[in-house]
Amino acid sequence: MSPHSKSLVTIDDLSHGEIDALFSLAQVMSDSLDEQFGLCRGKIMASLFFEPSTRTRLSFETAMHRLGGSVITASDIGATSLAKGESISDMARVIGSYVDIIVIRHPWEGAAKVVADYAGVPVINAGDGGHQHPTQTLCDLYTIKKEKGTIQGLKIALWGDLKYGRTIHSLIFALAKFGANILFCPSPGLEVPEHIIKKLTAEYGGKMAKYATLNQSVKNAFSFLDAVYLTPSSPHQLAMMSDLNIQFELESGVDALYVTRPQKERFTAGEESREQGDPFPVVDKKLLRDKAFRKTLVMHPLPRVDELAYEMDADPRSKYFEQAAHGVPVRMALIAMLLGVKEVPPSPDDITPALDYPRYEHDSGARCANPRCVSVQKTELKYLKPDFIIVNREPLTLRCVYCEHGVEPKYVASAEWHEGKTATKIYHHADSRWARKIRPENLIVFSSEDEAGAKGFKPSHDVLEHPSKSHH
Ligand code: NCD
Repeated sequence: MSPHSKSLVTIDDLSHGEIDALFSLAQVMSDSLDEQFGLCRGKIMASLFFEPSTRTRLSFETAMHRLGGSVITASDIGATSLAKGESISDMARVIGSYVDIIVIRHPWEGAAKVVADYAGVPVINAGDGGHQHPTQTLCDLYTIKKEKGTIQGLKIALWGDLKYGRTIHSLIFALAKFGANILFCPSPGLEVPEHIIKKLTAEYGGKMAKYATLNQSVKNAFSFLDAVYLTPSSPHQLAMMSDLNIQFELESGVDALYVTRPQKERFTAGEESREQGDPFPVVDKKLLRDKAFRKTLVMHPLPRVDELAYEMDADPRSKYFEQAAHGVPVRMALIAMLLGVKEVPPSPDDITPALDYPRYEHDSGARCANPRCVSVQKTELKYLKPDFIIVNREPLTLRCVYCEHGVEPKYVASAEWHEGKTATKIYHHADSRWARKIRPENLIVFSSEDEAGAKGFKPSHDVLEHPSKSHH
């Protein structure tokens, strides 16, 4: 890690070895809290929280105070110039010229990346909409590691809102990076988004196993989940296990159950009304009485609402208040690392190189389809170009670099074939044999025929004959 230039936008920004080094530092800091004062003397942190927060903001601010630094804060979007229509990039440039480090929480997905791109100082993502919350993940992993000694090979069940829970999205990749087995226990309709599953299998070598293979004794232990898992209409309600022998894995117990609240503030109208239906089981002593949960850590990023019973607070398996308390030393270590006041030794564990996907080079009008993505917001459109990487060719899939949602364009053309020759500006079905021949640097994509037409492209014979369906 080169601490001066580094930001933490997604959990991918930290390698396995860096996370281990950060945890060692956090342990030192928590063992000798009083001695850390002075490490960041003279440094200023901007704490910008444009969504509600208790733990994250206050633990960040506490962390900076404990390091002897100072904090400036803005916590109401209405009290900043963002309310006057200022762009995030302008705000980032200005605040970056005042302070040494920025912590930002914002409802738009990818907002922290924009701040990191423009601020010129290290930036920490404290939650960007439903995208990621990497510092919560650090607290989660730190807690698991402290309690279980390791993360590798553990069975961690993720419970509740796996669709909009940003803590879940960061945690999934971190657990995969550390070699844990993940069990998805989504509330109905709130399953892990497809683009996350795809990234998990493509980049982290995850294998998926269906719950339909459960044997009877495991089914009994998880009987409350039958309705959730065994519905064929939801094919991606799967468990990700490094070992496909799921029966064996579950019988030997669940190491941690990570509970989340429904993120109602991000629900669509349809999801809100479904919430009124059958309630998802509350995590309580009765639910956890099976022997599979005898040594299960009960975790929650908090705040809790109704999904986790108060009777669990006195249960020795419950670790959620410890998890929140670890927020201070973990964030102290992170701030110290990013400000370069603590060196991070290079780690021999860093063996997984990031996948190098080709960038999508052409601005053909393709936009990110996620309405919460920072790249489609009115104030940001003026300077942000849609930006994608090409993560798959069959089916052709682009990934937005801001919110990481996937786009599967319907039509493609090649910049090479039509260069200078209007007559050969032809578009094809994205899954045709022509499409597969186009080199990444020449690829032009369209989400509709109108979009292609607007750019002066004409349909291929194939598209004319089979407008909606591809003909191979
Ligand atoms: C989480 C968040 O903001 O995403 N809270 C937190 O930071 N501990 C979880 C939540 O709000 O449910």
